[in-house]
This record gives sequence, structure tokens and C-alpha cells, in this order.
Amino acid sequence: MIIDGVKIATEIQQELCDYIKHLHGRPPSLHVVIVGHHPPSEIYVKRKTEACFKTGIQSQTHRFPSEITESELLSHIQRLNAEPEIDGILVQLPLPEHIHSSRITQAIAPDKDVDGFHMMNLGKLLIGDTTGFVPCTPLGIQTLLIRSSIETSGKHVVILGRSQIVGKPMAALLMQNTPQANATVTVAHSQTKHLKSICQSADILIAAMGKPRFVTADMVKEGSVVIDVGINRISASHLPKGYEIVGDVDFEHVQPKSAFITPVPGGVGPMTIAMLLSNTLKSYCLREGLFLK
Ligand code: GUN
Repeated sequence: MIIDGVKIATEIQQELCDYIKHLHGRPPSLHVVIVGHHPPSEIYVKRKTEACFKTGIQSQTHRFPSEITESELLSHIQRLNAEPEIDGILVQLPLPEHIHSSRITQAIAPDKDVDGFHMMNLGKLLIGDTTGFVPCTPLGIQTLLIRSSIETSGKHVVILGRSQIVGKPMAALLMQNTPQANATVTVAHSQTKHLKSICQSADILIAAMGKPRFVTADMVKEGSVVIDVGINRISASHLPKGYEIVGDVDFEHVQPKSAFITPVPGGVGPMTIAMLLSNTLKSYCLREGLFLK
């Protein structure tokens, strides 16, 4: 079965929209910072701001040229941190090479860090403190599993990739002692030995290493769940755009073996955006002393 990420994300956005419609006073607000010109980032930011608009979240985009210095960018973040009516701040990555991304992401006030990249939020995730923000892609994947009635408790989850944004927080989230998690988690990476047999033992395989069509049919167990986080641009001269977006999974050959699989596009991607909206509303509610769900 193909998990329809667009459908589930749309349902969530509708739920958030219904909640926001009934708020009194100011609307929730998200401020997005984008530096330089990076075509995929332009597309992601456009999708994020459009989703905000549809949901009733006010969004503002702050654009800076690629020549901006790190200290200028830090000053700007500090101004956004100090503004009481800003609920969420997101700095779109990647940043130009002369800027240390981690200095920027760690400068965002933890209580406005709706991307969940600040060490305070990552620490809260590790200790099971639910007042923090969980990074959007792992949170989106957990939500996809819950809404597809896929049990994780006691299951072997194999995560391919150990990134700060996906692999590491995904592992922390699914190993939590909560009914929606309770998984046995293995994180595999570029130095992992016996990768194929580890993947074959996965009840749930999460591919997040950024290698086009890396996961092939011989690597997955019959009847397993395959979640594809990859967004890879590969050249395709026969297409009008000259490129094609493919995941980290060889979808065509893996799908027949899997019980559930997410497509690319239309799987995890829309969920990441839905969770950004959800985190922004959570920030608003915490700030305004409202109870969310
Ligand atoms: N670049 C690619 N994915 C992300 C994301 O989830 N958040 C931010 N801020 N930048 C990204």
C-alpha cells in the first residue's frame, strides 16, 4: 500500500486551520530567513509560506544576499528573537559556506525554534520533555506511521543516515518510552558493515542518507514498511525540466515487496511542512498560555 503523504498532510493542515479559525486576538506567526539563491530552497520556502497562508498562520520571509556576514545574520536573528509576537523562526538551510550553520541555528531562541534544531530542543527530545520542538521530518514520519495505524512498539526500525536533521532525532523519537514509539532502533551509516542484512531485518526501514535509489528490493524484508526521506535531483534529459526528483529507495522494485511505502514526491515531504505549521501553532499556544489538544 502506498502511504499518501499529501492526503494526510492536508488533513492535518485542515485540523490546524479549524483550530486557528477559532482563536481570538493575533494570529500565529512564522518568520522565514533565506540567504542567497539556492533553487531547491526557494521551492521549499515557497511551499512553507503557501501552507502558512492556507492555514491562517501569518508568515514573513526575510531575504538576504549571499554576501551577508555571519554577524549581520546573527544580529537579524536576535531582532526576531526579541519580537514578542513572532512565534516561529526558521532559517532555511543550506547557508553559504562562509557562515557556520550551527552558530545560526543555535542563535535562534529555543522557544521559537520550530525546526527543532537547537540543542535545548534536541536535549528535551532525549529526556522525553514534551515542551520542546521535535524536528519536523522525524515528527512527520512518526505522525505518518500513527495515522496509517502502523505499530512501532517492539518493532525493529532501521534508519539509514545519521544526520542532525533526520537520522539522529528520528532514532531518539522512535526509541522513546511512549505508546507511539517503543521501537528497537538501529542507525546505519556510511561506515556500517553488513548493511544489507541489517536492512533485511527491519520491520520499518527509514531511508534518509541522500543517495538516489540506494535501497533496492533485495535489501528489504517481505511485508515491511519503507519510509523514503530522500529528495534527490537526478538529470533526465527527456523531461522538460531536465531533471527528475527521486527518493533514496528504488520505489518501482521495492513497492511490490513492502506492506507500506511512501512515494517521492508526495510522501514525507508534505508531512515536514505540516509539522512546521503544527510546531508554530504549538509555540503560539505556549506563548499565549493556551492548551493545544
Ligand atoms: N533545508 C532542508 N530541510 C530543511 C529543514 O527542514 N529546515 C530548514 N530550516 N532548512 C532545511
